[in-house]
Amino acid sequence: MNRRTILMGMTAASALLAAGPAFAQTNGPLEVSSPGGVLSVRLSFGEANIQKGIPTYEVRRFGRPVVSPSKLGFRFADAPLLAPDMEVTGVERRSVDNTWEQPWGEKRFIRNHFNELAVTLTETTALKRRMKVVFRVYDDGIGLRYELPDQANLKDVLITEELTEFRFAEDATAWWIPARQPNRYEYNYNTTPLNDVFMAHTPVTMRTEDGLHISIHEAALVDYAAMVLRRTGKHAFQADLTPWSDGIRVRAKTPFVTPWRTLQIADTAGGLITSYLILNLNEPNALGDVSWVEPGKYVGVWWEMHLGTGSWGSGPKHSANTANVKRYIDFAAKHGFKGVLVEGWNVGWDGDWYRDGGDAFLFAQAYPDFDLPELARYGQARGVRLIGHHETAGNVTRYESQLAAALDLYEKHGVRAVKTGYVADAGQIQRVDEKGVVRREYHDGQFMARHHLHVVKEAAKRKISINPHEPIKDTGLRRTYPNWIAREGARGQEYNAWGNPGNPPEHAAILPFTRMLGGPMDYTPGVFDLLNTKRENRDTRVETTLAKELALYVILYSPIQMACDLPEHYEARMAPFQFIKDVVTDWEDTIVLNAEIGDYVTIARKARKNADWFLGALTDETGRMLSVDLGFLDANQTYKAQIYRDGPKADFTSDPYDMEILEGLVTSQTRLALRLAAGGGQAIRFTPASAADRRKLKSI
Ligand code: NOJ
Ligand code: CA
Repeated sequence: MNRRTILMGMTAASALLAAGPAFAQTNGPLEVSSPGGVLSVRLSFGEANIQKGIPTYEVRRFGRPVVSPSKLGFRFADAPLLAPDMEVTGVERRSVDNTWEQPWGEKRFIRNHFNELAVTLTETTALKRRMKVVFRVYDDGIGLRYELPDQANLKDVLITEELTEFRFAEDATAWWIPARQPNRYEYNYNTTPLNDVFMAHTPVTMRTEDGLHISIHEAALVDYAAMVLRRTGKHAFQADLTPWSDGIRVRAKTPFVTPWRTLQIADTAGGLITSYLILNLNEPNALGDVSWVEPGKYVGVWWEMHLGTGSWGSGPKHSANTANVKRYIDFAAKHGFKGVLVEGWNVGWDGDWYRDGGDAFLFAQAYPDFDLPELARYGQARGVRLIGHHETAGNVTRYESQLAAALDLYEKHGVRAVKTGYVADAGQIQRVDEKGVVRREYHDGQFMARHHLHVVKEAAKRKISINPHEPIKDTGLRRTYPNWIAREGARGQEYNAWGNPGNPPEHAAILPFTRMLGGPMDYTPGVFDLLNTKRENRDTRVETTLAKELALYVILYSPIQMACDLPEHYEARMAPFQFIKDVVTDWEDTIVLNAEIGDYVTIARKARKNADWFLGALTDETGRMLSVDLGFLDANQTYKAQIYRDGPKADFTSDPYDMEILEGLVTSQTRLALRLAAGGGQAIRFTPASAADRRKLKSI
């Protein structure tokens, strides 16, 4: 009998495949396969040198092991281990196939197609505690999470260890950044054998010797500690939850669920980018109408402080003064940018603000030379909104105590997006506990998971979107809270102003396969003065060509994209600036045309609001030729291609500015040869050709 029900369509409904008490009381293995039979997961007990009775899972792809039997379970502070001596007391299976729509995103419609196996495990010993392990198996990856139901012998829970393991079946090359370090996620990526990873933030991405691409991460990190990967043996890792300052990893009360532990698995590097597993495992939009969440482009009073020509603090160099902000508003209005970010506008930046723990910040009080009401009015009269800024220096208790007033002030002045910041000395967040004692917390522990969501929810009440820098990592919560519009959470452009070293050319060829699998990043591309000529000692520069800086707008997805350089630097190069003016930030679809992690990547994206397509391609420090097929274009349409490419002399070290801008006609039949200089890139806009274009332009 085929009891399988597939529901298609736009609803979130799901179908129950099999459930109920009719299961065998045995500990024989239980299996579930993905809808297309690509992946399978098997739950068993005490296999492969693991203590008898401990639940383990393993993952196979086309029958071949990807994850060997790996433990599941928990250790608690004040209760016995939850893992050994468990038996299956419930099995539920279901299949879901539906499609949902993102309010904004890199792709509009997302198919959610999986088979689920949920197994209730009960201790055979006296306490009879229960936990449910849920596996969602997709063709492009798996999610697994624990559900701890309400029960007599498990009420208040203090987790000291999550036993979840990932024992990979073979060696691989891994791309990763270290965890529990002062600079949070802001490290250059390591490319090493899997066995050289020690403690790493997820996503950790790897490629096995025969070319399988795997990325481990998590989805829906809510009221829990981030999962860091700690290597425990050959190719073997364990979830290491970021602790509170007292060593407890997670404080919870049953019933609760953990975040999903995710494995994205693809044949190609690009297949990781177009896997929507993380979003699919998050809950649907909880905010209702989010038409007030506005994707778009912005400029800001920002880069001048990073260059050192302006300052956040008061005094002669204070950048956030009314006249200077008006200059940015005029520039934004003239060139079609909808937002102007202003940092350093509020009292508290004087002195060593982050070493002092941000204890002078007043989030609702402007410096006297910054006229917030006047600037809000001036901007709105020109179709431009201010973008707010709250740098906390990690002083979270202080920020939370002022949060409502701070957001109210911005709401009153029509601010629709606020960038927050958590730059803290040694990366330590300050919390004042119930007894008034100051505690130092990690940026990615349960305390900060709670804090960030609290800010996002408070902001949503006022129709404000939030873009945290030095955030907790992105686990796809934008689906549930679409006003969580972007975040930083990796080395951004700022490192090219003062970083030692800056971001190497391979950085942008690694981000799409690591950090960005979690979600959009506020990288802030678009430096045009690549040699940082305004910096006093000119000791740094941006290690890209100009064409690559343009390509970043397509490659590094974010619904909000900054044009981060100074207005005068754009005014000096208006021809390439046209691409930044034209590129959009909200997409109908995303296609990866080619990719090798750390080497190169080419992505095409279709605009959501019109028929345009945009293409970005970039390479690391090696120049290369890539050939791309434009088969993604509408077959019934001729397009005008506006191409911004590295010129014949371009090279990120010797001639970063050499660029050619050309126009021609293309169709879905065209094959384009992309020539990328060392450290270079290419950016193309495809727009339906007008009759005049067809007369004037030649085919490419
Ligand atoms: C670090 C952020 O990443 C940067 O964008 C910001 O300008 C500074 N903090 C100051 O808040
Ligand atoms: Ca930062």
